[in-house]
Amino acid sequence: KRIIHLNTIDSTNTMAKKIAAEDGEEGTIVIAEEQTEGRGRLGRKWVSPKGTGIWMSLILKPSIEPTEAAKITQIAAAAVALAIRKVTGCEAGIKWPNDIILERKKVCGILTEMSAELNCVNYVIVGIGINVNGDMEAFPEDIKKTATSVKASAGKTVSRKAIVLYILREFERLYLDFIQSKSLQKSVEICKKYSVTLGNPVKIINRDRQIVAEAVDLTEEGELVIRNQKGELEKIISGEVSVRG
Ligand code: BTN
Repeated sequence: KRIIHLNTIDSTNTMAKKIAAEDGEEGTIVIAEEQTEGRGRLGRKWVSPKGTGIWMSLILKPSIEPTEAAKITQIAAAAVALAIRKVTGCEAGIKWPNDIILERKKVCGILTEMSAELNCVNYVIVGIGINVNGDMEAFPEDIKKTATSVKASAGKTVSRKAIVLYILREFERLYLDFIQSKSLQKSVEICKKYSVTLGNPVKIINRDRQIVAEAVDLTEEGELVIRNQKGELEKIISGEVSVRG
């Protein structure tokens, strides 16, 4: 498989989209030392300084329905949590649907983007951003309160290569299992085991409503089950929501 390693790029997700649209093969990886216009969810910016993190995008071409793309985010979250745990021994947690947490702070975000037409997926891009060896002093004030680095938790510089290797290994295993068995079960098990969301109150925010509720479970499809204030159970699909603890 092709790994494209760049020194600097606007965004590995943007680059991966271009490659995928021009017949880029499934399994192609774009990874950069620095992003000048790293993108986060909900139109946010993703700070991606040189040499300190893992800024990477995977190109996938699964035969799934567009509504299933969010499942790939769950596979990636499981793979990243496992990788950070294996390499550092730190207790990485998963904040549904797409953040990896160390000591209550965000260390990794996942941005899954897709191109589809007529109920067919052309490609899925899984963008993974991990703050590995970033110096927290250098972080902008507003991010400092909620973000951390792997290094800050591990107490020492951590090999980005080792983490990338583990992510790719675990992602491939879980992704192939999902494609072959058509079940997300293996990834959901891991997401449940390391969830920092389940059992806790959450605020679900989307365009037209805000719900305060308790996160109670993940379904087999990777959706969040909440108990709302009337005591009713509701399923939340990740799409456009923002979840706050
Ligand atoms: C989020 O939590 O908002 C998602 C952040 C995703 C960042 C990664 S870094 C590699 C890839 N390229 C981008 O421009 N964004 C993703």
